[in-house]
Amino acid sequence: ELKDNTIIIVLGASGDLAKKKVRDPCELSNLCSIPIDDAPQTLPALFGLFRQGFLPRDVKIVGYARTKMDREEFHKRATSYIKNPDNNPEISTSIQQFKDLSTYIAGSYEDGAAFDELNKHLEEIESKYQSKERNRIFYLALPPSVFVPVAKNLKEHCYIPKGGVNRIIVEKPFGKDLDSARELLSSLKQYWTEDETFRIDHYLGKEMVKNLLVLRFANVALGAAWDKNYISNVQITFKEPFGTEGRGGYFDEFGIIRDVLQNHLLQVLSILTMERPVSFSAEDIRDEKAIKIVKVLRCIPPIERSDTLLGQYVAANGKPGYLDDDTVPPQSVCPTYAATTLWIHNPRWEGVPFILKAGKALNEAKVEVRIQFKDVTQGIFKDIARNELVIRIQPSEAVYLKLNAKTPGLYTRAIPTEMDLTYKRRFTESKIPEAYEALILDALKGDHSNFVRHDELDVAWKIFTPILHWIEGLNGQRPRPVAYPYGSRGPKELEAFITKYGYKRSGEA
Ligand code: BG6
Repeated sequence: ELKDNTIIIVLGASGDLAKKKVRDPCELSNLCSIPIDDAPQTLPALFGLFRQGFLPRDVKIVGYARTKMDREEFHKRATSYIKNPDNNPEISTSIQQFKDLSTYIAGSYEDGAAFDELNKHLEEIESKYQSKERNRIFYLALPPSVFVPVAKNLKEHCYIPKGGVNRIIVEKPFGKDLDSARELLSSLKQYWTEDETFRIDHYLGKEMVKNLLVLRFANVALGAAWDKNYISNVQITFKEPFGTEGRGGYFDEFGIIRDVLQNHLLQVLSILTMERPVSFSAEDIRDEKAIKIVKVLRCIPPIERSDTLLGQYVAANGKPGYLDDDTVPPQSVCPTYAATTLWIHNPRWEGVPFILKAGKALNEAKVEVRIQFKDVTQGIFKDIARNELVIRIQPSEAVYLKLNAKTPGLYTRAIPTEMDLTYKRRFTESKIPEAYEALILDALKGDHSNFVRHDELDVAWKIFTPILHWIEGLNGQRPRPVAYPYGSRGPKELEAFITKYGYKRSGEA
């Protein structure tokens, strides 16, 4: 399904977005899931795919950005993150081969003539291909301010009218609220069709997020209890152990809700709660999944202020507070922590609270889904712990079910214990692919099923826009987030917040 004669053009290749994740090639596909600022992302994912032999045979990579540099300098930047301390010859060869297939062109994002130059460069590469077929995949690793001019210039100057495919890969932010998202989407639509567009939410590329559909729909035992009759409450949690650390300028404009809740956590929620797609075949799943996702999201009313807890980290344990970051405007009330409860008004989920929580500068790195089941009918056991199904998305992927069992011995007493599927222990031979690798590979194959369709974005923004406008003071005074110390579990108000929605803590969480 991979197309021969493909060029992948990474626009913004010199900037931050193309360089976010660091990985160790000795541990291929075993991503170190700690995001490190200014460490690579797009190019490393391409390198990872290349090393594993997943790129099309004769692929070429072209970097394009404003920064003037020669091919050598680009190669240095494009591979500097690859560690090869023992000079492993196999890795050295891969690095050299990766350099050999990569070139760089500098040019502006607004100027059509610069894109003519880029096109000339692409044609030159294509002239060496053996057949006439040619395919171009444009990856926009760019700030949103230039999405539209670049999309336009690519269409007008670098688009192949026939004899191959053109695809464009874009990534959030897709607007800041419902109106701006609609405007952006309709501007892009003038140049690129839905079929040619691949909108990344990298959480959809994560192994355990993909696993949700299998867990739900390939297991009668789980599927049967998947509704309001058995589930008391659901928490989807995102925790990062570092603050904005110099990237406060970007963050302050967006806040934690846009950065994580409105996209990543909402995607997880919709896969958890959508109805069953008809089949898993590639053609079905694409639209089927999107239709089912839009359907469940449309049952969620806009978030209420009373269902929302906002926090901002302050200095603690020798670490700076959010406001101590020089790139953050003084006295900013931007939330770096948010917990908010969504309600789904449909027959399956009526009355079940879905609590989304995300925060920066917390005590640990963890992303997980925690489904708490209802109490067993009273009378038979006293003070029995509730069942919980936990799906740990990262780090250390796992699925475990907390259940009660009889304590071994000559008396009958129930104790809480766990059925534990920790991937590292169970699937010792398997490597978990990195999200960007999985998604870039999908885009190369033309498989849309793990990308965000335009109408999903529209409903997602409808749910979040009113609360975002309130937080930004568009209809009155801006709410003040509560303070929480850097490195803590979050605002102290959190415990009462989740208890309010019926979460019962039993033993250690
Ligand atoms: C990004 C956010 O979308 O996701 C970042 O902009 C965040 O602020 C990142 O750190 C988290 O991604 P991951 O894959 O490390 O969980």
